[in-house]
Amino acid sequence: MKKLNNKVAVITGGNSGIGLATARRFITDGALVVITGRNQEALDAAVIDLGDRATGIPSDVTNIEDLDRLFAQVQEQFGQIDVLFANAGIAPLLPCEAVTEEHFDILFNTNVRGLFFTIQKALPLLSEGASVILNASIVAQSGLPNTSIYSATKAAVRSLGRTLAAELASRGIRVNVVSPGLIETPFWDKVGLSKDEVDAFGAQVIQQTPLGRPGRSEEIAATVAFLASDDASYFTGADLVADGGMIQV
Ligand code: NAI
Repeated sequence: MKKLNNKVAVITGGNSGIGLATARRFITDGALVVITGRNQEALDAAVIDLGDRATGIPSDVTNIEDLDRLFAQVQEQFGQIDVLFANAGIAPLLPCEAVTEEHFDILFNTNVRGLFFTIQKALPLLSEGASVILNASIVAQSGLPNTSIYSATKAAVRSLGRTLAAELASRGIRVNVVSPGLIETPFWDKVGLSKDEVDAFGAQVIQQTPLGRPGRSEEIAATVAFLASDDASYFTGADLVADGGMIQV
């Protein structure tokens, strides 16, 4: 039997990058997958790509009404959630002196507030033994210049992983964190750096990475699929760092 046979999985930000690769992996492992995103066209394209075991529901994690609508629709269509991957996130990067209130608010609203209320609103639907996975980053444990607010949001995500693991254990729900290193996704087109700056940054990171290359979305998807499955039945509150050794070695 496949590892996620007929499990119902919800992935926020599932139309791109790590979320999309994870949706593909979950489907290969037997799951029924609901992906969310803000852009209907991108969602439709992703669902066509993923096939008939995928459903796309437009939903912005910063909008509580959207989250209510999302989980009402999931309840109606599927009745419960077995796997929740809280993955949606953004990373505009700025040096400390250039950070504005807007920059601060949009990052915390998306990466922390949005992630927290995604989980809170999903709680009534989470089945006994469900697995919740939060997408953080190695920046939660390092001090990378120009990422002050982004890194702070990811440290908050890591913290939520611990507390929610403790709170939800009595329902048999496991909560774990995945912390990717540098992964090649469309994320890097949106951080507010020029292509040359991104390339220079990437080269510097790769130099500090023992495996000597960036990661692939599929490698993070495999880590998330492990945490989602019964193979990880004794993992909760953990943080699996998948970074080619960058901050571990
Ligand atoms: P991506 O840009 O390809 O995907 C981000 C996804 O989040 C997209 O589907 C986007 O539509 C969605 N999203 C953004 N804001 C949203 C909102 N308000 N409501 C709903 N959906 C929203 O980037 P990637 O790389 O796949 O990022 C996914 C997660 O991985 C993020 O949380 C990011 O911080 C994290 N991450 C990425 C790394 C990388 O090097 N690519 C490294 C470490 C962590």
